[in-house]
Amino acid sequence: MSTTATKERIRNLALTHRPRRLRRSPAMRDMVRETRLAPAMLVYPLFVCSGSGVRREVPSMPGVWQLSVDEAVREATGAEQEGIRAVLLFGLPDDKDETGSAAYDPAAPVQAAARAIKRAVPGLLVVTDVCLCEYTSHGHCGILDGEEIVNDATVGLLARTAVSHVEAGADIVAPSDMMDGRVGVIREALDDAGFHDAAIMSYAAKYCSAYYGPFRDAADSAPAFGDRRTHQMDPANVEEALREVALDLEEGADLIMVKPAVHYLDVISRVKQEFNSPLAAYHVSGEYAMLKAAARNGWIDETRAMLECLTAIRRAGADIIITYYAREAARLLG
Ligand code: PBG
Ligand code: ZN
Repeated sequence: MSTTATKERIRNLALTHRPRRLRRSPAMRDMVRETRLAPAMLVYPLFVCSGSGVRREVPSMPGVWQLSVDEAVREATGAEQEGIRAVLLFGLPDDKDETGSAAYDPAAPVQAAARAIKRAVPGLLVVTDVCLCEYTSHGHCGILDGEEIVNDATVGLLARTAVSHVEAGADIVAPSDMMDGRVGVIREALDDAGFHDAAIMSYAAKYCSAYYGPFRDAADSAPAFGDRRTHQMDPANVEEALREVALDLEEGADLIMVKPAVHYLDVISRVKQEFNSPLAAYHVSGEYAMLKAAARNGWIDETRAMLECLTAIRRAGADIIITYYAREAARLLG
């Protein structure tokens, strides 16, 4: 086509469809926006240790601290004021042993923090992570026979841990161990103890991910040898995630989780489409650390990148997002 002909065509362009009409102004974009974030859908993780007045920043996670109970209460109170509805507690015990017995010690940091937070901010939901890796001397998520994690004996201890968390005031227990059958056994143990109303949020599709690295610094839970491949899922699988979710729901999970989040948006989407249950996604430590590191180097706009990540997780189908950015995001979302 000659240049004159092209110019002529452009002059006469009478397009029926101009999608840009809906992007012209902030008001227009706001009105047609499909995905919205709200503080109420964010869960704020806290790492609790013993002592008082302790607030130790985790080097690989700027803006995340190991907190003594009084400081954890302070964070929880601030979060609640910003519109966040739930905190997720992880514990740093004073002592570790072969079987992780501090996990179900009523005086341990998680139990103490659950009691203190429910006293100070009764309206805030307390979710507790249920696993043994923070409590075992070898850093594995269960009891060992040689170098193998023994499923059924581990499940018994997880149930005992879950009951002790609820006794201390937890509203929701979140088993993150990926042992088989744990949701059913935890449900039965909670019911036997009279805790029919305590809910279970299961880490149903939890992948064996490199992105948990910074968490293991924060929670001091790196395995002394080997890895978590014999219980956490292979990142290559999605059909298996659907089977894991189905089993956990059948065993009595009230809420299910996909973890990590951003590299697993397809999994979030599939799970949401196939199961009619509240779905959480965990934006994990490594996902957080990458954004923080790039932002510190001036390589990305942290606020925009963070909101883009959280929006993508929500758009994929998550109802709840667990994120170390919860308070920062809640302040922005107001
Ligand atoms: C404990 C647990 C882990 C995370 C949550 N619960 C670590 C792991 O499985 O190794 C990871 C959370 C994060 O990376 O932010 N099993
Ligand atoms: Zn674990």
